Amino acid sequence: MTKTRAAITGVNTWVPEYRLTNAELETMVDTNDEWIQTRTGIQERRILKGKDKGTSTMAVPAVNGLLEKTGIKPEDIDLLICATVTPDMQFPATANIISNKCGLVNAFSFDINAACSGFIDAVTTAAMYIESGRYKKVVVVGADKMSSIIDYTDRQTCIIFGDAAGAVLMEPNDEGNGLIDHQLHTDGAGAVHLHQKAGGSMRPATHETVDAREHYVYQEGAAVFKFAVTNMADVSEVIMKRNNLTADDIAYLVPHQANKRIIDATANRMGLSEEKVMLNIMKYGNTTNGTIPLCLHEWEPKLKKGDNLILSAFGGGFTWGALYIKWAYDGSTISS
Ligand code: UT7
Repeated sequence: MTKTRAAITGVNTWVPEYRLTNAELETMVDTNDEWIQTRTGIQERRILKGKDKGTSTMAVPAVNGLLEKTGIKPEDIDLLICATVTPDMQFPATANIISNKCGLVNAFSFDINAACSGFIDAVTTAAMYIESGRYKKVVVVGADKMSSIIDYTDRQTCIIFGDAAGAVLMEPNDEGNGLIDHQLHTDGAGAVHLHQKAGGSMRPATHETVDAREHYVYQEGAAVFKFAVTNMADVSEVIMKRNNLTADDIAYLVPHQANKRIIDATANRMGLSEEKVMLNIMKYGNTTNGTIPLCLHEWEPKLKKGDNLILSAFGGGFTWGALYIKWAYDGSTISS
């Protein structure tokens, strides 16, 4: 008997209209287009402008569009998981806000905070609920309004991040497609290199924390880069070997888009040529939990049933991991 697996059966995204270009950043901090492109691969990122707009502002249209394109009624969704580091509020979970606004009246929902690896952690969690037989229709959202926690006077971080939301539908699959294997890691010792100092229970907001600019992303870029390069490549290689996959067997690497140099190092270790690597960091920057669904959506028309994909991520925490997914449908038959 074929094992029931959990497959992605639809993907949709939503990005804000405003494009923050390298040229505009040059007017804000001491940087230049050449440095940004050479060191990161980024040309522009999207920014959600306007008052009282949060992560759910982007996630809601992403989920509504997903339900529309897959023809699923909101009331048929059993569970919604939102991976985010920029929740609308400290509580309740942004997943609850999205579920309410999208009319998922029969779903229970919760957030996952695993920084840039959150989306692959959430996909794996959703798969466990589906494989157990408990749920049949699960929505996984990866969304972040990174501009809400970025210091636009800090040239080390403000050039990297952008805002976006993506969502996938996951359902049982009896044809052998779906999530085949996963390898996920955390190492809390990495927290010192990448974190937000204030706003949590340890350092609640005060005049002092605001004046000290502690509500923004603190990143020791070079230290994070070193860990990211090694760990994203290692974990991707581990999952290939364990599943007897060669570079020829892999249709695409779907990497978290943090820095083109990290992506190149991972692809090199896997022996993959450029055409097999999903890359759109130039258009969106690092959207944290949004990067992988943004790639899946853009490449959806090219994906074929049975394609072997490796999803790979690294992020704050530290968190990192890789998933081996057999794609479940021909994307060319779907209207985006
Ligand atoms: O999303 C998951 C977690 N995050 C990541 O994976 C990010 C990992 N880190 C990185 O992507 C890179 O470390 C950065 C893009 C953040 C920085 O690139 P780098 O090549 O590691 O640069 P660096 O921090 O080693 O700095 C090199 C030089 C320094 O100048 P000096 O000391 O050599 O004179 C920096 O001050 O580049 C300078 N620099 C800049 N120059 C122009 C740093 N930021 C900028 C900038 N524009 N924006």
